[in-house]
Amino acid sequence: MKNIEHKGFRKNEIILDGIRYLLGNGYFGYRGTLSEYTKAEMVALNLNGIYDQMGELWRESINAFNPLYTIVRVRDTELNPTKIKPVSHVQGIRIEDGVFYRETVFSIKDHQIKISSERFADQKQRQLLYERYVIKSDSNLKVDLYTGIDLDVYNLSGKHLEILDQVDEADFFFVKARTKQLGLPVVVGETTTRNFDAKGEVLNQNNKLLRHYSIQMEAESEYIIEKFTGVCHTRFDSYEHLDMLVTKAQKLGYLRKFTENKAFWREKWDISGIEVIGDDDAELGINYSIYQLISSRPYSDRVSIPARGLSGQVYKGAVFWDTEMFMLPFFLNTDLESARHIVMYRIIGLKGAKSKAEAYGFKGAFYAWESQEDGYEACSDYNITDALTGEPVRTYFREKQIHINGAIVNALGRYVERSGDIDILFLGGLEMAIECSKFYLDYLTYNRDTKLYEALQVIGPDEYHELVDNNAYTNYLIDFVFDKTIELIELAREENPGKIAQFIKDKDYQAEIQKIRQMRQKVYLPGPDDTNVIEQFSGYFELEDITLADLKKRIKHPNEYLGGKDGVATPTKIIKQADVVTLLALLPEKFTKVVKKANFNYYEPKTEHGSSLSASMHALLACDIGKPNYAYEHFMSSALIDLNGKAKQFAGGIYIGGTHLAACGGAYLALIYGFCGLKHHNYVLSADTRLTSKIKEVRFKILNKNRLAAIKVTGTTANITWENGK
Ligand code: BGC
Repeated sequence: MKNIEHKGFRKNEIILDGIRYLLGNGYFGYRGTLSEYTKAEMVALNLNGIYDQMGELWRESINAFNPLYTIVRVRDTELNPTKIKPVSHVQGIRIEDGVFYRETVFSIKDHQIKISSERFADQKQRQLLYERYVIKSDSNLKVDLYTGIDLDVYNLSGKHLEILDQVDEADFFFVKARTKQLGLPVVVGETTTRNFDAKGEVLNQNNKLLRHYSIQMEAESEYIIEKFTGVCHTRFDSYEHLDMLVTKAQKLGYLRKFTENKAFWREKWDISGIEVIGDDDAELGINYSIYQLISSRPYSDRVSIPARGLSGQVYKGAVFWDTEMFMLPFFLNTDLESARHIVMYRIIGLKGAKSKAEAYGFKGAFYAWESQEDGYEACSDYNITDALTGEPVRTYFREKQIHINGAIVNALGRYVERSGDIDILFLGGLEMAIECSKFYLDYLTYNRDTKLYEALQVIGPDEYHELVDNNAYTNYLIDFVFDKTIELIELAREENPGKIAQFIKDKDYQAEIQKIRQMRQKVYLPGPDDTNVIEQFSGYFELEDITLADLKKRIKHPNEYLGGKDGVATPTKIIKQADVVTLLALLPEKFTKVVKKANFNYYEPKTEHGSSLSASMHALLACDIGKPNYAYEHFMSSALIDLNGKAKQFAGGIYIGGTHLAACGGAYLALIYGFCGLKHHNYVLSADTRLTSKIKEVRFKILNKNRLAAIKVTGTTANITWENGK
């Protein structure tokens, strides 16, 4: 597998490199920054599932202190490429074993000094993070090395940690802190093993807790420090636990940890890796996307995968529909344990969803648009600022993107289908589905003329058009939720009739279930018109017809937000992202080829693809209607989005950069369900060939009911071999 690497130092790419070369393990993400960087370069050890709010600012995920801070000085000169021009610089990530590396050569007077390092996140003891840092000089030289914990962390919305204690004991540093809002413990620890003798002098300055070593270097000798670091949070014994873990890791040694890490990734890639023969870029892009998905996989039922993964605090570290609709399928195919965490996270989040519904005066569960712990809604009424004036823009994402419930029930259904884990239904799964349905029952409005129920004043996936009636995607999903809820109740009944009867009685769901049954077939489902196009929402066809190029001429600021009340796209047919196309791509069995073709042709030119969720849906649909060459471009733009750094970095005045996990998951969907036409029929699989001429062959594996299927698709054949050779 090829490395993702860049030769030469690029100051203006520091922020994007922080995303490109990200390390993670689901517990934390560590940005792809250099050891000498500070908050100015957006170093972040971003944590999953722990949040804090400062005053009225946005509630966001937490960046812990940075335990990988190291600098080297030669006399007064700091060896830092942002300060002195290096002779050479290489920075990269080996996705094969999840290792970040860099090598920088500096020249000072007559000396050439090389700094090289590698680091990786522990994938089993997920609190831990290691680094091996090496300095070498071509001549004898005295250097000063400082290494320890940087306490001055980068934050988007205020400070979140209050430091309680700093421990310096037996060569270990620990910083104990608590979150400001909830008082949860967050502890960062660090220790080093060195191959040289030097007594470390402890320095506590500039918000950094450091050990300073003066080293008299001999020419061509390597001076190595191995850092054993970690972060632990929320547990009452976070300090003791982390102390035990770091101590143990150090005892085992760097090499042992390195070998364990390699073994972890070898096993992961064996199931998850995809070979794309004939197209190196596609192979790199898809496996990089998979690397990001694996690095973000949840570690418990209390966490899921945020929209920007663990690359920082963008989008508040919150979980969106992105996870269920775009990322979950990868885990269903390769890692059911993580898939289960994703579903359980929503079951636990029922608490937050019920209180959100209540707050808006509805029954049932209304899931958070931006979900934090326990399903807490983090989305505010003002999510965007005007790029020109800086004024907050009122958006209705929080209260009107009701399609989120549909994504969650869809995920539960798919998980149960693929895993056969009926127990989850009794562990809150059924309650979740019924409460989601209950919300929809309450939300819908009866139309006396048509005798159908309508979803009024909603927002579909296309966020540029707010408060619209009968968004096709939303209505079809509501209908789907009613069907799926009844189907899951029946499934549970078959498994355990006594238990389900008791459950319905205890929860007093009899009348509710009856209502859901009655509502099936009664939701208004916008059908194709006489040109076979489905109207995105009532009145959409009457909006101004304008080309994307002409609309762009009306834009006054490069970061301008195009939707909302005054957005330039709002009165027009230009849409932010796949909407009807998402519906056709995700529920393909509900629509004919003719309808799919007509809608693809109609909506493709009207779609800005302003969201990273858009391209993969167009790729999927394009494959389905026999346009693989068209699909290819969209597939590649999803797969390479973070490597190219081409995604939008701002929504109005708000920074929205980071890893785009939905695009990663979407690229996976496009490749295996689009180009390779994979289909699940209960536990049977089928595949098809819809490859572009650019791709000669695709090979991947699917874990299907504990059996592994190897799929090989060429330009003319599709072949499935089961583990036992059948
Ligand atoms: C998109 C949403 C998406 C969110 C997080 C927004 O720009 O419109 O559909 O869920 O980003 O990725």
